[in-house]
Amino acid sequence: MERLVKAIKGSRSLAVLTGAGISTLCGIPDFRGPQGLYKQPDAERIFDIDWFDRDPSIYYRGCRSLVYGLKDFTPGPVHKALKHLEDIGKLAGIATQNIDMLHQKAGSSVVYEVHGSPLLHHCRGCGNEATFSEICTMLEGKDASFVPRCPECGSAYKPDITFFGEALPEEAFRAAQHLAATADVMIVLGTSLTVFPAAGLPVATLHSGGKVFIVNAQPTSLDAQAIAHYPDLLEFAQAASSI
Ligand code: OAD
Repeated sequence: MERLVKAIKGSRSLAVLTGAGISTLCGIPDFRGPQGLYKQPDAERIFDIDWFDRDPSIYYRGCRSLVYGLKDFTPGPVHKALKHLEDIGKLAGIATQNIDMLHQKAGSSVVYEVHGSPLLHHCRGCGNEATFSEICTMLEGKDASFVPRCPECGSAYKPDITFFGEALPEEAFRAAQHLAATADVMIVLGTSLTVFPAAGLPVATLHSGGKVFIVNAQPTSLDAQAIAHYPDLLEFAQAASSI
């Protein structure tokens, strides 16, 4: 970790890419870790746009606690450490694959949500908009497979989370690419680096001559090109918070 701390201190433009692993420290399950959501049968259907259009209750049933229980979760040590790095002027920005809005809750201000967010939902029929809290209200007291529907046309509301089969939010992804390509140091935190194009962001840093550090319990495909791989996110959070 001393090497990573030294790189943070000496960085000119520090970028971070976060994934679901940083939120397991807050009690939110990840996708592909040992206790991950995708260990359940058919779980990959939950965030699949074709399945959503066929049967939106698959998503609402699968995400009832994961997404609509998010209001009960608070930022963890990594979210707080990144807010600290921003406060001391050492962090250019965060690209996150997470949809749990915890970086914003921690107070970080430069956050690019490359897989979208459930903050807004849109009707699949007429595009009508509903907020996260409006959807939570519609779900209150309903059974697990209840689907909130648009009062105008009766179609299902879909969160602005990027599902498999959908394009990434253009503006957020372009900003994340710029952040990655202009970073001299990129720290990858708690992601399996398996979902593209987000997993290609650290490659953009490498291509422009920057250094990549990885903190993740499991190995990743980019370990060989990284300066170092550390397994422990908590150790990272402690080291970064003490800078
Ligand atoms: P994954 O679940 O694929 O990867 C999370 C990684 O974090 C795993 O490799 C874990 O081993 C590691 N991890 C978990 N807890 C950890 C801890 N306490 N310390 C160290 N490492 C830990 O999650 P992502 O890479 O974020 O898409 O997944 C990418 C995308 O796949 C997600 O954004 C999601 C999913 O489909 C959408 O939601 C649209």
